[in-house]
Amino acid sequence: MGSLDRKVALVAGGGSGIGRATAELFAAEGARVVVFGRRVEPLEDTVDAIVKAGGTATAVAGDVASEADAARLVETAQREYSGVDVLVNSAAVRLRAPLTEISAADFAEVLRINLVGAFVLTKAVVPAMRRRGGGSIIHLGSALGTVAAPDFSPYVASKGGLHLLARAAAVELVQDEIRVNVVAPGTIDTPMGQGVPEFRRHLLKHRIPIGRAGHVGDIAAACLYLASDASRYVTGAILPVDGGWTAS
Ligand SMILES: NC(=O)c1ccc[n+]([C@@H]2O[C@H](COP(=O)([O-])OP(=O)(O)OC[C@H]3O[C@@H](n4cnc5c(N)ncnc54)[C@H](OP(=O)(O)O)[C@@H]3O)[C@@H](O)[C@H]2O)c1
Repeated sequence: MGSLDRKVALVAGGGSGIGRATAELFAAEGARVVVFGRRVEPLEDTVDAIVKAGGTATAVAGDVASEADAARLVETAQREYSGVDVLVNSAAVRLRAPLTEISAADFAEVLRINLVGAFVLTKAVVPAMRRRGGGSIIHLGSALGTVAAPDFSPYVASKGGLHLLARAAAVELVQDEIRVNVVAPGTIDTPMGQGVPEFRRHLLKHRIPIGRAGHVGDIAAACLYLASDASRYVTGAILPVDGGWTAS
């Protein structure tokens, strides 16, 4: 028996990296999964991998900050699997440049995807979760939502905002038995995590006591805990999974 048997999970950003690993783990634990993102091909790859492993999944393409696309995502889960129990929001973009070289439009675009997107998805799943008598919402935050690093100002701002948006939603949605939590990774072995090699080398040498990058499975396991009933007394938490980065 899996820890997510009979649950329906939406995974935004489920076509790659942490989102894909989480979608595959959730399916292996018995959940029916709907993966969401802009590009169809990676989403279909995730669905194929889940189905080949004996699981159940479908894909919906759309933009995380579009209310119409988020509504389509929830409608698909409702139609195919009769509801929504879990949302994992792993969709995000990261822009690296000095603050003085970033246009207001580019800054706003990072906030639109990483922060407004989280709001839109949260709002979209609430009615469906209410109908099920509760649910679990998990946002992927970041160590860079708690501490800063040079040249990541829109990303840091978006993740800091996301951490507190999750807490705001947690205290508001507790009355509906909907829990809202954040998993805050450090540096993980995905293209996004590896994207700035000298930054990663600095982190591993000076900032991360465990001394290695995290694996996508380390983050998926934390999401599984927060999705499952094992975390039934946990809401409004920001769970660092960062090798000790933010503790040091
Ligand atoms: N990897 C790390 O080291 C690390 C560290 C700290 C935090 N995190 C966080 O963990 C999460 C996953 O990161 P990752 O490394 O797995 O990155 P990733 O592989 O780049 O995954 C991000 C996903 O977001 C989707 N996405 C981006 N913009 C979107 C939009 N507007 N609408 C819908 N989907 C969108 C992308 O798919 P499409 O492009 O097809 O839309 C992609 O599948 C992110 O929130 C990231 O900030 C990662």
